[in-house]
Amino acid sequence: MIKEKILVIGACGQIGVELTLELRRIYGGAQVIASDLREENELLKGTGPYVSLDVMNKEMLHVQVIRQNITQIYLLAAILSATGEKNPNLAWSLNMQSLLNVLEIAKEEQIKKVYWPSSIAVFGPTSPKKNCPQQTIIEPITVYGISKYAGEFWCNYYHHRYGLDVRSLRYPGLISYKSEPGGGTTDYAVEIFYAALEEKKYTCCLKEDTYLPMMYMPDAIRATIELMEAKSDAISVRTSYNISGMSFSPKEISLEIKKHIPGFRTTYKPDYRQAIAESWPQSINDQIAKKDWGWKPAFDLEKMTKEMLKNMRKVLE
Ligand code: NAD
Ligand code: SER
Repeated sequence: MIKEKILVIGACGQIGVELTLELRRIYGGAQVIASDLREENELLKGTGPYVSLDVMNKEMLHVQVIRQNITQIYLLAAILSATGEKNPNLAWSLNMQSLLNVLEIAKEEQIKKVYWPSSIAVFGPTSPKKNCPQQTIIEPITVYGISKYAGEFWCNYYHHRYGLDVRSLRYPGLISYKSEPGGGTTDYAVEIFYAALEEKKYTCCLKEDTYLPMMYMPDAIRATIELMEAKSDAISVRTSYNISGMSFSPKEISLEIKKHIPGFRTTYKPDYRQAIAESWPQSINDQIAKKDWGWKPAFDLEKMTKEMLKNMRKVLE
């Protein structure tokens, strides 16, 4: 049996660090090559091989894939929603070209499986706000959302046209403490914990009643691995699966944190991210992921808040 050799691109980002560590736990440190433009993340050091790699450089990427005998690729490099609006051309260029480079090389080298995440950002103001279904009106208003929606159809195309086994999830906003978030509209739900523990006060960039779909990172990592380990014929969605964890507003998460840090106070100063957040659904219907590969989230707001505070206290010690 051929041993898997996995390349993670964008391994030093918010998801990349935790996903790389989990893949190394499953497949062995040496089998998972972490790569990024940035310096190696401290948490990855000593856990397996690291290469400096710009995914936009197709030749270098191709060389690494051949040289390392790669069998699976996880592509995580991207510019997220808030940062994307500051430089739309760059966001479009990175988000699309990185995916096209990976899909093309994966096709040529007969890579067994490719993972590429999409986002709730594919949805727009005309999509249903509550319990947003897998298939619905999709008219994104951010360059990030447009790039993710186009990317979903490239994945679908490579699967149906070339038989490439490419799989994808539409992550909600992800909440984690191991590595910092990278410029999304949902980043407030991580920042609020740092602010609560360090200053007991927080100024939120969204209005208090802005509900968004969110997920605790351990659920997102487990969803990713479960999707990638599912039998190919169980995967009915080759664009990208809706998945859901929890849904809350800045006011609700503030109140939940206040249960543990009584003096904590949040004030609200909405900025350009408010319009992005308002264009997205408040909650997501993930019944197809549940039916196809048994998806089930483990964390709600209460459980996630307890875990975040416990773990962040240790990090800040
Ligand atoms: P991040 O910004 O934290 O990490 C992205 C990583 O990619 C960074 O370490 C960055 O240095 C690297 N990178 C950027 N340009 C690169 C290049 N040219 N070559 C190689 N590496 C490069 O992002 P993240 O939050 O970890 O997101 C990972 C993926 O998940 C993205 O596709 C993102 O759209 C998607 N996603 C994230 C969230 C979330 O809440 N974090 C939600 C939905 C979807
Ligand atoms: N968390 C991401 C963002 O806000 C959603 O894709 O951009």
